[in-house]
Amino acid sequence: MKHRVAVLHGVNFDVLERRDPAIYGGFSLPDLEVQIQRFARDLGIETSFTQTNHEGEFCEALHKSVEGADGLVVNAGAWTHYSYAIRDALEVAGLPAVEVHLSAVSQRDDFRRVSVIRDLCVGSVEGKGVDGYREALELLEGSFEK
Ligand code: DQA
Repeated sequence: MKHRVAVLHGVNFDVLERRDPAIYGGFSLPDLEVQIQRFARDLGIETSFTQTNHEGEFCEALHKSVEGADGLVVNAGAWTHYSYAIRDALEVAGLPAVEVHLSAVSQRDDFRRVSVIRDLCVGSVEGKGVDGYREALELLEGSFEK
């Protein structure tokens, strides 16, 4: 049976193509999702996608994720660095999750070095752009096998 992975993108990913191309690559969220879908297809994984700019909606997407997913790929954007609400919702979901960041968060501003969700995740990938999502899917697959 194919594993189902919910990919959750947080705040400001709807305008990804308008963010600093030197940091985020200049591509749009639909471009990114097409690529993620390709990676998933190669790995035999089914994906679903959610993006919201509203923290509560992101929490609700996490609450509902258990109904349709076996694992999560989470790029919570800036919320990563401070949202205990999202941390708690991720804990409630209880699914294996991998944290992803397009940019190298550990090498940017001090506030980006903090992740309040990392210790709940089975893995974390940063600074690898789109390819980071392939790695995240592979890490999740590995965690399913355990
Ligand atoms: C990000 C990194 C965050 O610090 C930032 O707030 C984002 C995107 C990334 O993918 O590199 O919105 O999560």
